[in-house]
Amino acid sequence: MRLKDKVAIVTGAAQGIGKAIATRFAQEGAAVMIGDIDAPLATETAATIRADGGRVSTCTVDVSVQQQVEALVMQTIDTFGQIDILVNNAGIINRDPVLETRVEDWQRVFDVNVNGMFYATVAAAQRMVERGQGGHILNLASPNAAIGAYNRSCYAATKGAIESYTRCCAVELAEHGIQVNAIAPGFTATEINSRFFTPQILSALEFRLPVGRVAQPEEIAAAALAIVSGDMSFMVGQIVRVDGGWSACDIDYGKLGQYLDTQNR
Ligand SMILES: NC(=O)c1ccc[n+]([C@@H]2O[C@H](COP(=O)([O-])OP(=O)(O)OC[C@H]3O[C@@H](n4cnc5c(N)ncnc54)[C@H](O)[C@@H]3O)[C@@H](O)[C@H]2O)c1
Repeated sequence: MRLKDKVAIVTGAAQGIGKAIATRFAQEGAAVMIGDIDAPLATETAATIRADGGRVSTCTVDVSVQQQVEALVMQTIDTFGQIDILVNNAGIINRDPVLETRVEDWQRVFDVNVNGMFYATVAAAQRMVERGQGGHILNLASPNAAIGAYNRSCYAATKGAIESYTRCCAVELAEHGIQVNAIAPGFTATEINSRFFTPQILSALEFRLPVGRVAQPEEIAAAALAIVSGDMSFMVGQIVRVDGGWSACDIDYGKLGQYLDTQNR
């Protein structure tokens, strides 16, 4: 039990990567607060974790609304007494080309991905500092922050902001024993990608990625656990890429040629 007696808030944990993180943390003994905008799905996920013996509660929250995020933090303390770990996981994507990105869509993605992280970080870190026992804040970034891509300008810009904020928070909060880090997951099989992962895209990714496949959410959760488990006590302000080699590797032109040959047959 690597998280015995710990309390974790995981935003966006009703499904996908957040659900896998909440599930894994609960299996490791943490009490988990699921903060998600989708109340029925969050309830379903909590029931699954509870049936597995986990301690879990839910709070309906739109992370883009500061008062709701503060209520999430208060509810966690009322329910479980403390906060040791905050995972800023809730996120949405926009896949419009640069010239077609509407201001309201740009704003919404920033409100959720960036402002949501900011509200939760400040509210949770204040409680951690007051308690004086340190803690972990883990943000969900993306390799897109550092790799240019088509139709990702808005999403990538939010993830770039997440990376910068992670480093600055890490520097300021380290003296309080709060370790702030981020995970940048590669392509992961979740709802956010359900329409994007067509058979053709999946096949292209299998050729492109050194590991030859996309990730399962549990593989990202395993990295999250490693970071907050206490074993990595000297890691501060890092962006950990869990991406199957995506960001480490240029296009393999030999493989690409083979792929195009098979597609053109
Ligand atoms: N799946 C990937 O390939 C991938 C890759 C890199 C980074 N990420 C990041 O990982 C995180 C989780 O992504 P995922 O793939 O599990 O997505 P997902 O769409 O499967 O799940 C997102 C969860 O966030 C919740 N949510 C959305 N808006 C919210 C809001 N305003 N307030 C509270 N909850 C909200 C949803 O209800 C859902 O439960 C995101 O930050 C995403 O950007 C995902």
